[in-house]
Amino acid sequence: MRVGILGSGLMGGKLGTLFARAGHNVVFSYSHRRAKLEKLARDAGENARAATPREAARDADVVLLAVHWSRLADVLKQAGDLSAKVVMTCSLPMNASDTALVVAHKSSGAEALAKKLRKAHVVAAFNTVPSEVLFGVFDARRKANRPSLVYCGDDGKAKRAAARLIRDVGFDPVDAGPLRIARFTEPLGLLVAQLAYEGKGGPKLAYRFWRFRA
Ligand SMILES: NC(=O)c1ccc[n+]([C@@H]2O[C@H](COP(=O)([O-])OP(=O)(O)OC[C@H]3O[C@@H](n4cnc5c(N)ncnc54)[C@H](OP(=O)(O)O)[C@@H]3O)[C@@H](O)[C@H]2O)c1
Repeated sequence: MRVGILGSGLMGGKLGTLFARAGHNVVFSYSHRRAKLEKLARDAGENARAATPREAARDADVVLLAVHWSRLADVLKQAGDLSAKVVMTCSLPMNASDTALVVAHKSSGAEALAKKLRKAHVVAAFNTVPSEVLFGVFDARRKANRPSLVYCGDDGKAKRAAARLIRDVGFDPVDAGPLRIARFTEPLGLLVAQLAYEGKGGPKLAYRFWRFRA
């Protein structure tokens, strides 16, 4: 797939690198520094390049939204028309100090995004995993026991694209249902961050949510 990365920081930089290593064509965009995007693209290999948000979105099958919630309006403006695109968001609707969700309970960041982008197909994924474990999970992807990763959305095509990217990064994709399930996965993302960065177990503990089998 052609994947446009909007926000090339901890999440976007790492996921874009792994998508490229898994054989997808990746365009990194949205950083304060063009040189950083170019380095990311060089390091990610021949399937990656750097460009503007508009260029990253234009030819993409899937756009990964990986910005702080406060940058949402700006990055969407720069990206331009996302009609008919699959927009995969890992962005949590956090306040400026990253201490609380600003959308929760009766809605979610993913649903708020879908309302802004009525003609795009929004799917929420990768919001429950700390960026620190992504390379380790990718390196161990051929092992039988993959960690599970939930995703949710209302559009079948978007969900199939997300499931494929989740699998290619090394997780076992678990369909958590419609987009409104993000009301529960986003607080889970916050819990994971607390476990990863404030608990004693560190990031490795935080992504080990195993599926119960009968
Ligand atoms: N980090 C995690 O483990 C994690 C896990 C789950 C979900 N999330 C969510 O994922 C989203 C991204 O998180 P992150 O940790 O990847 O954030 P991050 O490292 O801060 O990355 C954000 C990206 O946006 C760019 N950016 C910010 N302001 C900009 C501006 N004014 N102009 C141009 N570029 C700008 C940054 O540029 P620079 O490259 O110059 O810094 C960076 O590339 C957030 O919503 C977060 O809640 C994060």
